[in-house]
Amino acid sequence: MLCLGIETSCDETGLALVSDGSLIHSVLSSQVELHDIFGGVVPELASREHYRLIGVLLDQLLNKSHIDIHDLDLICAARGPGLLGSLLVGVNFAKGLALGLGRPFLGINHLHAHIMINALENVLPFPFIGLLVSGGHTVLYRVESPDRFILIGKCLDDAAGEVFDKIGKCLGMKYPAGKFVDMLSQNVESNIKLPRPFLSNDNLNFSFSGLKTAALNHLKNVWQNCNAEIGVNIRMGQRDLKSFCAALNNAIVETLVEKTRRAIKKNQDIKGIVVAGGVAANTTLRKRLRKLGEQFDLPIHCPSPELCTDNGIMIAMGGYFLACSGEVHNLDLETIPKGRKMPEDIYPSTFTE
Ligand code: KG4
Ligand code: ZN
Repeated sequence: MLCLGIETSCDETGLALVSDGSLIHSVLSSQVELHDIFGGVVPELASREHYRLIGVLLDQLLNKSHIDIHDLDLICAARGPGLLGSLLVGVNFAKGLALGLGRPFLGINHLHAHIMINALENVLPFPFIGLLVSGGHTVLYRVESPDRFILIGKCLDDAAGEVFDKIGKCLGMKYPAGKFVDMLSQNVESNIKLPRPFLSNDNLNFSFSGLKTAALNHLKNVWQNCNAEIGVNIRMGQRDLKSFCAALNNAIVETLVEKTRRAIKKNQDIKGIVVAGGVAANTTLRKRLRKLGEQFDLPIHCPSPELCTDNGIMIAMGGYFLACSGEVHNLDLETIPKGRKMPEDIYPSTFTE
């Protein structure tokens, strides 16, 4: 089964071809430079850029793969959560293709797809705990099958990646700042104390806004002439900057690992841990989760760092597995912006290869 995956939920236009769960080729265009001067993604600009590029990228992908468009068996696009205007570009392009080619269409949950990309490199150990940490989401799932994701923990305010990005911005780093904080933290011992937020409870939810405030307050108090709110005038030496980054990195990573540990304890029948999302590229998080896996004698799967951030491959993989479970969507499928509940509206497929 030859699946086309289309990702346009935020600021990456990604398309990929997956054949029976193996990657053929992918193309990706990032809008990071476009949004950089605004310090964050501008939704209107993002949708226009997806619209400008999506057709060109499909041509590139087909040429690179030496595949005729009529050979596609299934067309998939991220249907949410994400920026509505951006999602609409990808979903409507996919619906048009599906209609024109007479092929089935699937709208894919972007968050589930992040987790499912792990199937490209590993056999997924169902049932498993899925930890998804990105710029917009921090989520724990109990995943029983490709179409059964049970939400067991979510973020009540700022996502982990958002804290990396916002504090990084105050430190004068480019967006998205997570990888710079990660890099500067390596092999650094820090004596700066930042809280491990929202651990004094029995649930698996996350709340990182208190940590963000504590980090901003530290910057304001210790670096008195800085205005940490708007990110100007921070005159830290390299050593202090590294120490601060290490403290922030540790606080976020330890919180994520501790809640994952509790999720394992509450789900004693699970057979592994699968990590995903942009923040899953974090060096310290990967190391600490591997240790956690050793403690519980469970395999830990993290995608290669280049597969952690948004791309078309994850959408094609997610679609492939849903189609294998016999599922498909109608062309009146809605796109779901961030903040709205994802409906359970998958239908049995009439798909035959
Ligand atoms: O999954 P993703 O590409 O987009 C969303 O769906 O949000 O994740 C982007 C996030 C950004 O917040 C970025 O700072 C973070 O992933 N990120 C990292 C690292 N690489 C990317 N955070 C920490 N350490 C990294 N190495
Ligand atoms: Zn994402």
